[in-house]
Amino acid sequence: MTLKVSLSLLSADFGRLKEEIEAGTEAGADMLHLDIMDGHFVPNLSFGLPVIESIAQVAKIPLDAHLMVMNPDFYIEPLAEMGVKYMSFHSEVALHSHRLLQKVKSLGIKGGIAINPGTPVTSVVPLLELTDFVLIMSVNPGFGGQKFIEYSLEKIKYLKDFRAAKGLPFEIEVDGGVNDTNIGLLTAAGVDIAVVGAFVYKSGDYKKALCAFKL
Ligand code: DX5
Ligand code: ZN
Repeated sequence: MTLKVSLSLLSADFGRLKEEIEAGTEAGADMLHLDIMDGHFVPNLSFGLPVIESIAQVAKIPLDAHLMVMNPDFYIEPLAEMGVKYMSFHSEVALHSHRLLQKVKSLGIKGGIAINPGTPVTSVVPLLELTDFVLIMSVNPGFGGQKFIEYSLEKIKYLKDFRAAKGLPFEIEVDGGVNDTNIGLLTAAGVDIAVVGAFVYKSGDYKKALCAFKL
């Protein structure tokens, strides 16, 4: 399978969001990754539904919403109406993660379960038959431009082996600190979707930066 790059807008220049979306798309991103924060699940804030509505009107590639919030249920229907294609929420906050995944999928969206670096990968095993994808956080969520946590590779390999052993179709997404030096290890470990933020948006040449992921 070809690697998909989900470009994180968190490191874009928010004062020029439309141009940043167009430039990232033109440079070859496959999806736009939207980091939705609430200042509670993570200490930081990014953007909420009104800004995403504007993003959705400009975007020409699929939207990949990553809910770093305490109450993911609140966001599901509004984001579905905005045409989001992928949506993940965190297992650490979802008391009824199985039911939430069913809800997301029932709206025709690819539903994913996300886990923090300190959460065991085995905790999502009961969801692997249902989920469309697993998002492995390879930094602690809340900020762009952090250093990749190596242990994430072990979690990705575990999921890849589990998927092969059971013949399951879920995708594996990695998020945080992805760059041109670790992408080879990540794809070898089993990654299908790489979230990339600072490596592209803090570079002087988005197209050149994204070339590193055209494997
Ligand atoms: C962190 C976010 C990430 C982040 C990735 O809370 O979930 O999506 O923006 O950005 P980089 O690639 O800069 O680590
Ligand atoms: Zn993210």
